[in-house]
Amino acid sequence: MEKDHKLTPFYTKLLEYANSNTVSHDVPGHKLGQVHNDMMDYAGNKMYKLDANAPRGLDNLNRPTGVIMEAADLMADAFGAEKAYFLTGGTTMGILAMIMSTCRAKEKIILPRNVHKSAINALILSGAIPIFVKPYIDQELGIANHITFEDVKKAILDNPDAKAVFVINPTYFGVTSNLKKIVDFAHARDMMVIVDEAHGSHFPFSAQLPIGAMEAGADMSSCSLHKTVGSLTQSSILITQGALVDHIRLRSTINMIQSTSPSSLLLSSLDVARKTIYFEGPIQIPKLIEMARKTRAEIDLIPGLRSIGKADFLKKKAFNYDETKIIVKVSDLGITGFDVYKELFDEHHIQLELAETHLILAVLSIGTKQKDLDALVVALRAVSEKIMPMGLEPIQPKIKYIFPEAYTRPREAYHAPKKYVPLNQAVDEIAAESVMIYPPGIPIVIPGELISQDILDDLDFYQRSGSVILSDTEGGYIKIIDKEYWEKWSELYEDE
Ligand SMILES: Cc1ncc(COP(=O)(O)O)c(C=O)c1O
Repeated sequence: MEKDHKLTPFYTKLLEYANSNTVSHDVPGHKLGQVHNDMMDYAGNKMYKLDANAPRGLDNLNRPTGVIMEAADLMADAFGAEKAYFLTGGTTMGILAMIMSTCRAKEKIILPRNVHKSAINALILSGAIPIFVKPYIDQELGIANHITFEDVKKAILDNPDAKAVFVINPTYFGVTSNLKKIVDFAHARDMMVIVDEAHGSHFPFSAQLPIGAMEAGADMSSCSLHKTVGSLTQSSILITQGALVDHIRLRSTINMIQSTSPSSLLLSSLDVARKTIYFEGPIQIPKLIEMARKTRAEIDLIPGLRSIGKADFLKKKAFNYDETKIIVKVSDLGITGFDVYKELFDEHHIQLELAETHLILAVLSIGTKQKDLDALVVALRAVSEKIMPMGLEPIQPKIKYIFPEAYTRPREAYHAPKKYVPLNQAVDEIAAESVMIYPPGIPIVIPGELISQDILDDLDFYQRSGSVILSDTEGGYIKIIDKEYWEKWSELYEDE
């Protein structure tokens, strides 16, 4: 039966509750906005009225049978999936749930090395063995990007016992691999395909975008609707189709990592965002792509700057590109993306999504207005006018992107005895923690990998360029495996 996407079952019921003046003798303690605070002065207490916990009639996210189930069914329908799960812990949580419910300890999973840190954490929690596929290294832009079908095919043929293939659709930079071809090849060998669509939630709503995971035939995908569709930050979904998905295991994994007090604000924001993108996406996305194309053309007229678009990526073995991203190469001006990122914020009140050494990235959505793009062009022109007269030398690619060799499974390294050493004494040691640059949150080294001088050089370069380095250990130290104790310890403890 055709679904009525005008309906918002969860939000409608929540609104009814908020307007019902029910006396709250339950949690949350703000008592539906009766405890005044500073934030209420700005946001009003209506936001608090919508922040209910689990009153009668609002269903239970751990086992939905009412309005959450109805809202999730509409979500699944909008995404061409069979089933949808609402998540309040972002796609981080979706990735944990997908990998943990698919791989048991010591089972293999094929995945790109430049996965988000949540996938690495899922390897630690599940105990799975990663088979990494090297992503395309774009030396011109200094980034690790997509994977190619040929490389995934080789990994599948070399590891016929792998349980699943994990694909990013699209990468942080908007580039996709030939997902359908990967799915067909993996399915023919009984491997599941699970997809990180943190940046691809809008794909199913316009034929002008790359295809979404469900259309490509993948088994599971997690989508950050909060990133590109317009729900509140942290609200994501996990969508599935086909007979390979074990829903009992998936549900119990989700419930293991989901709060028992999921935010009704986040859940209702998913419900209403789905309605909007379902009706508005097909109309607004083509207009947005046109606006983005025009903006790229204007940026290309600015001395020292160059927009990087679909044609550029297609030349670099990409399968497709999400044109709602604007990437600008800035390093020919002699300054880094980090410099431009800071300048745009400090001097022009523009917050970008990401900077890398050679580029900046702006993420657009159907909420982007023409005036916002005009402001970006004006600011970039001002940067060029300020820097060009200095006659600086273009910045040459410096990052080596030599991915470390794995010595042991991430889970084993995570649990092994450890010690802390200064970074400059860590060469040839085995990492016991992930070290990453944020954003995008992709680890330079993960637990179980050998630390080489090249890795330390890359890290040093990022540090000096002012990037945020995330790791457990601070102050120039790194957590490594204590090899001496590890040997004795391994005799006593057989890790799963
Ligand atoms: C490629 C990728 N995957 C997963 C995530 C995690 O998504 P979320 O922020 O919704 O938890 C991110 C976040 O930036 C990401 O860039």
